[in-house]
Amino acid sequence: MKPVFVLNGPNLNLLGLREPAVYGSATLKDVEARCRAHAATLGLAIDFRQSNNEGELVGWIHEARDKASGIAINAGAYTHTSVALHDALKAADLPSVEVHLSNVHKREAFRHHSYMAPAVNGVICGFGTESYVLALTALHSLLTANKKG
Ligand code: DQA
Repeated sequence: MKPVFVLNGPNLNLLGLREPAVYGSATLKDVEARCRAHAATLGLAIDFRQSNNEGELVGWIHEARDKASGIAINAGAYTHTSVALHDALKAADLPSVEVHLSNVHKREAFRHHSYMAPAVNGVICGFGTESYVLALTALHSLLTANKKG
């Protein structure tokens, strides 16, 4: 099976340093290691990436159309602003999950709206690093269901 793309948006390279009270002490490398370990138990391969650049994220979603079986995306602040990422996810037409470390609905009002949500199968937020693990489990279920269908 093709890998699942795990895509991370702006400022997530600073995980562990950035607002630890909100995002915890794990670094993005720690998140990646946790994803790799969990993906292995599910029999999934992952391609884990981060960019601070909206256009690069759009390009990776385009790449996913051919090269990935599904997408887990934490678009960071672009979640709340990016019609371009929304359109790219629609165009990719793959099983996809929106992920957030924090519970965005408990936070500022500007984080309550997501341009990703209407373009993905589902949203997981508020469980810290565990959100990524749950997202991979959800993607695995979607991919298994697709195979059966
Ligand atoms: C985030 C939540 C976003 O609102 C924020 O801009 C981020 C991180 C999260 O994982 O909780 O950069 O996506």
